[in-house]
Amino acid sequence: MPVIVIKDIEQAIPLAEALAEAGLTVLEITLRTACALDAISSLRTRFPELLIGAGTLRQISQVSAVVDAGAQFAVSPGYDPDLGETCRKHSLDLLPGIASASELMRANRDGFYFVKLFPAETIGGMRLIQSLASPFAETIFCPTGGIDVSKAKDYLAMSNVACIGGSWMIPATALAKEDWLLIRDLASQAQALERAFTA
Ligand code: 3PG
Repeated sequence: MPVIVIKDIEQAIPLAEALAEAGLTVLEITLRTACALDAISSLRTRFPELLIGAGTLRQISQVSAVVDAGAQFAVSPGYDPDLGETCRKHSLDLLPGIASASELMRANRDGFYFVKLFPAETIGGMRLIQSLASPFAETIFCPTGGIDVSKAKDYLAMSNVACIGGSWMIPATALAKEDWLLIRDLASQAQALERAFTA
């Protein structure tokens, strides 16, 4: 799942076009820029076939804005029970971030069994996921943070990993140059990995 930072609203459509042409179907638009909500609503209109989510959800006050923009899911970097509850009230699917067993226990207690492990590579990556597998057998992970195409394959081979988040297919330099071909190629590589594990 591409983790996307849109600074220039004009880039939202061509970027999503490149990712969609590569076969990616789920996009996370992070709430880190002023135009993030506009990008979500314009992508929802232009690409009804894609699943468009809002990333970096950190505040309760953001939830209704995200829903109004048309986001179909949300991702948070950490776990906040009140945020989880607010998303539920708005029928907004949340992929909450966790970084420890304690945070995962709290998320599980609130019914979240599909979680983002963040920042994955910094906190132990695959070894951490392996360590959590037995005590948290019902939990499925979406590791994100510091992962690139060379590591993605091994993560995806883990039985308790459903998908991976990352920005490696959208290098900042390529985005600045609007090099949609390069972004499409990098996204195609990511998509090929996904296909290999879902075939
Ligand atoms: C995120 O918000 O999920 C991360 O910033 C993505 O991590 P990456 O840029 O290291 O892939």
